[in-house]
Amino acid sequence: MSADFDHIASDYDASFTHTPIGKAQRNVVFAQLDQMGLNWEGLKVLELNCGTGEDAHQLGEKGAHVYATDISPEMIRQATEKNSHHSNVQCEALDITHLETYRPTEKFDLIFSNFGGLNCLDRSQLKAFLDTASTRLAKNGKLVLVIMPEFCAWESLYFLAKFKFPQVFRRKNKKGILANVAGKEVKTYYYSPLKMVQWAHTLKLHWIAPVGFFLPPSYLNPFFANRLKTIDFLQKRDEKASNSFHLSGLSDHYLISLIAR
Ligand SMILES: C[S@@+](CC[C@H](N)C(=O)[O-])C[C@H]1O[C@@H](n2cnc3c(N)ncnc32)[C@H](O)[C@@H]1O
Repeated sequence: MSADFDHIASDYDASFTHTPIGKAQRNVVFAQLDQMGLNWEGLKVLELNCGTGEDAHQLGEKGAHVYATDISPEMIRQATEKNSHHSNVQCEALDITHLETYRPTEKFDLIFSNFGGLNCLDRSQLKAFLDTASTRLAKNGKLVLVIMPEFCAWESLYFLAKFKFPQVFRRKNKKGILANVAGKEVKTYYYSPLKMVQWAHTLKLHWIAPVGFFLPPSYLNPFFANRLKTIDFLQKRDEKASNSFHLSGLSDHYLISLIAR
């Protein structure tokens, strides 16, 4: 697993973070975080699967104290470089499935996982993670996860248009599929919002909203390369859809926020 993402790390920003769709989807996530009214100054944040540290960078700018973690040493190397001027961002290697051993005496105001890191976990790992995460939150702490659901309208239409019929419902495969991440195949499992709510039974649902119902998945970047105004328009539509929780299970990703009981 770590090796998979080590190979992706050097290309990740160019093939996702800095692309029109990658930037627009991240803007939607941050618009939702803003709408949730988090007070960032001094907030103690544990970021899981931080990748190249793009979110850690933005959260560091807002004044949060961020522990940015990832399983891939190469991602952590890039995240450390990107955040070298932020004394309030620390980047460290961590496998999500070992969360209970990470700084075991500390609790966090926010545990944050963006853009499908949790889709690398199988069902039993994800359930175990939700149980552990609930014990690592401070009082009034939030667990905010951006996850890929079992169905994405854009993706199904795309595969239908290409006559790739077996792919139309590929996300429904409970055993996981090999998804293309920055040109490399990575085992990926998809989880509906309903399952997340059921499995996070030790936490209370606080917020759920689509990320990428109007915006397409990032592998359609080549098609949208010269359609930046369209991407801008779709981003605004996604931002306005934050109260349309029923679209979460039809989008490329959704954001779910859970709070300690
Ligand atoms: C699609 S990238 C998302 C990166 C970043 N959060 C972002 O917003 O761009 C998925 C990340 O999950 C990390 N990852 C996968 N499995 C993991 C695990 N078991 N523990 C920690 N990180 C993991 C990968 O190394 C990769 O950096």
